[in-house]
Amino acid sequence: MCKFFGYNLSMALLELKNRLIVVTGASSGLGRALALQLALREGADLWLCARREDRLRELKSEISTRSNVNVKILRTDLSQAGDRHALLDAVASDHSVFGLINNAGMTRYGPMAFMDMDAFRGVMEVNLAAVMELSLGFVEIMYRRGEGFLLNVTSQAAFVPTPYQGFYTTTKHGVQAFTDALRMEYRHTPIFIGTFVPGGIRTDMITSSGLDRRISRNSRLNMTAEKAAAACIRGLKQRKPLAIPGLLNRANHLLTRFLPREWVLRAAERLYRPPAGGNGSG
Ligand SMILES: NC(=O)c1ccc[n+]([C@@H]2O[C@H](COP(=O)([O-])OP(=O)(O)OC[C@H]3O[C@@H](n4cnc5c(N)ncnc54)[C@H](OP(=O)(O)O)[C@@H]3O)[C@@H](O)[C@H]2O)c1
Repeated sequence: MCKFFGYNLSMALLELKNRLIVVTGASSGLGRALALQLALREGADLWLCARREDRLRELKSEISTRSNVNVKILRTDLSQAGDRHALLDAVASDHSVFGLINNAGMTRYGPMAFMDMDAFRGVMEVNLAAVMELSLGFVEIMYRRGEGFLLNVTSQAAFVPTPYQGFYTTTKHGVQAFTDALRMEYRHTPIFIGTFVPGGIRTDMITSSGLDRRISRNSRLNMTAEKAAAACIRGLKQRKPLAIPGLLNRANHLLTRFLPREWVLRAAERLYRPPAGGNGSG
């Protein structure tokens, strides 16, 4: 077996064809693009989760007209413990489930101290509690089956604390650390565990959080959801423990690890500082 710094170079690509993959947050943005590419390019069967069932139904019918993969939808509110348990129960009872992509997420933009506690709780529940609960439940089920993968979508904000998105960056740091720890625990098993670490993506998250008042959705700093999804699937198939899409994001990731932390934090504060005249809270 050919190894390089702990990475296994001789491993075959992860085969996704006819595998049943659960994608959370599939009703828009990255999750929707992932679902389309997994179905249409990889031939994977899908289980699509989100709160907006109408959007999931539309996506299912689009996929069904363009391919013959199986698509199921499950209306899930990940801020609710009951819905998270229902999703895990469904995974446990369907023996064909092979992979889980924890993609659903949300952010709030603005000075943290002026945000209400509901915003804080919402971000913590969806981005952190749900991801941890689903990851643990899923890995336990897959471990018993002896195969499968778990991919958690984090962010560049998992490595650089992002001012004015304080709740978000906290959850992404948490999920990155949690997933890395879990991956180490299971590295000698057939289960692949990894993270996808994008920078900005042109999705509704940027507009719904109000972040577009600072950085426009179509900024060249942000990549399209389609490009991000393609990089995500490529990284997954190659079993990359940490897949970062795009040269700019990879350079940023490398640079921010070596520059003095205070410089990096100050640059991030300047980049995200809300426009003058508003507190930026969305
Ligand atoms: N956009 C970026 O710049 C960027 C950058 C780095 C990382 N990311 C990460 O990429 C992932 C996807 O985000 P996106 O950019 O594609 O944003 P998006 O277009 O806003 O999509 C977010 C998805 O999460 C789902 N979601 C939100 N709250 C939920 C809840 N309570 N229960 C179930 N599903 C919920 C939404 O579905 P419903 O509303 O229908 O429930 C939606 O499908 C997130 O983890 C995000 O942190 C995004």
